[in-house]
Amino acid sequence: MSHITICGTSPLSGEISVQRAKNSVLPILAATLLHRGSSRITHCPRLGDVEAAADILRHLGCKVHREGQDLLVDAASLTTQTIPPALMGRCRASILFLGALLARCGEASVGFPGGCPLGPRPIDLHLHALRTLGAECRQQEGMLHYRTTGLRGQEITLPFPSVGATENAMLAATAAEGITLISNAAREPEIVDLQDFLQKLGADVRGAGTSVICIRGGRSLHDAVHCCIADRIVAATYLCAAAACGGQITLRNTDYRHLCPILTALQQGGCTIRSTEDTVTLCREAPLRAAGTVRTAPYPAFPTDAQPLLMAAMLRAEGETTFIETMFTHRYGHVPPLRKMGADIRLAGCRATVRGTATLHGDIVHAPDLRGGAALMIAALAAEGTTEIRDIHHILRGYENPVETFGALGACIYEGNCKGGDTHGTTQPLQSQTAAGRLFPAV
Ligand code: UD1
Repeated sequence: MSHITICGTSPLSGEISVQRAKNSVLPILAATLLHRGSSRITHCPRLGDVEAAADILRHLGCKVHREGQDLLVDAASLTTQTIPPALMGRCRASILFLGALLARCGEASVGFPGGCPLGPRPIDLHLHALRTLGAECRQQEGMLHYRTTGLRGQEITLPFPSVGATENAMLAATAAEGITLISNAAREPEIVDLQDFLQKLGADVRGAGTSVICIRGGRSLHDAVHCCIADRIVAATYLCAAAACGGQITLRNTDYRHLCPILTALQQGGCTIRSTEDTVTLCREAPLRAAGTVRTAPYPAFPTDAQPLLMAAMLRAEGETTFIETMFTHRYGHVPPLRKMGADIRLAGCRATVRGTATLHGDIVHAPDLRGGAALMIAALAAEGTTEIRDIHHILRGYENPVETFGALGACIYEGNCKGGDTHGTTQPLQSQTAAGRLFPAV
């Protein structure tokens, strides 16, 4: 697929199932290395980043194959502890294989990780955590060489609750002798999911979801089967699209508790939201209103990954929405292509102010990164005329079948060129649908 074509302004309607979380699957694939046996990840999404992680596992000597929707990893024997720069550069989460390899083999040589171009993305906190556990590091010719004579449990205090550094520390600590305490740990739901998988392997890990994680290392591990949590950022993408286009959609396999700040912002914009234990329904009939001021910060605050998505939804809202991006210095790559489509966005450092305009128009635009590309899809769905989105490999790193999924919601979206104004899916009248569940916030 070279590009996506979208003909905008149809309301969205229908019910879809949300894919499993990329940011859970990737650390869990790294964690499969800890056990000299098999792991089955059920409902594993087909994504560019998952392929990259699977290729790293294969390179290390694991057997990785698909069985229907499941991904099976047999890590019984490894043939190398080195991951070359070309493989490491394919995604950011590749750095998690460092902690897992150290735990499994006591040594690892890896290149530097890749990932979206969101500004400088240092790995000092990862390296600090691994050094604290007793690993020695040498950097030579673009490679990190790590070695340990035995990891030992320690207290690791992270200066910032980095998601990746927390995960790397958890992976390495499962093999460390004694108790490791990770303080100021990240609290994202994907960290809790990693803990769940580690517990299924037999590891003694507690506290994920709070700021202190406790790991009693050295337990013997066994085979495990795991189904990851739903992807809250993918869920946010479809909700923001429905807010932008109007209509009513229901997401299945979705946990509203992971989406609170996004749901609050959309409600402020005039959307009605209902939730059950595992569904979220969004309905937007009246014109969308601005969401006020949105500041990104670590979980449970508004996620940086959803900032481009909400911004795209707010392009046609009545009033001004201000975004303050505190996590990444260059997370406004979607602004130039959105402006090309007619968006009124002023940038000043980490602050972006969106003034809603009556219309957006289709154009040829390039996805700048994963979530920036998703923002272009949302804007295109709400824009008059046809938009061609190029460089969609960024989008396919994190979205499974976006064309089919938006098509199932009645969007006019195609792989390649538009086929004469045909629409995918059927748009049901709003009156015919009854939303299940309680109004958000659920009490
Ligand atoms: C993860 C997510 C990514 C999300 C981000 C923040 C995965 C695969 N990716 O990325 O989608 O946008 O969390 O929610 O789960 N930092 C340092 N030194 C470090 C590590 C991080 O300074 O060693 C800084 C980063 O530059 C950034 C901030 O900490 O400014 C947050 O980064 P972090 O939480 O580590 O994000 P990732 O794990 O890379």
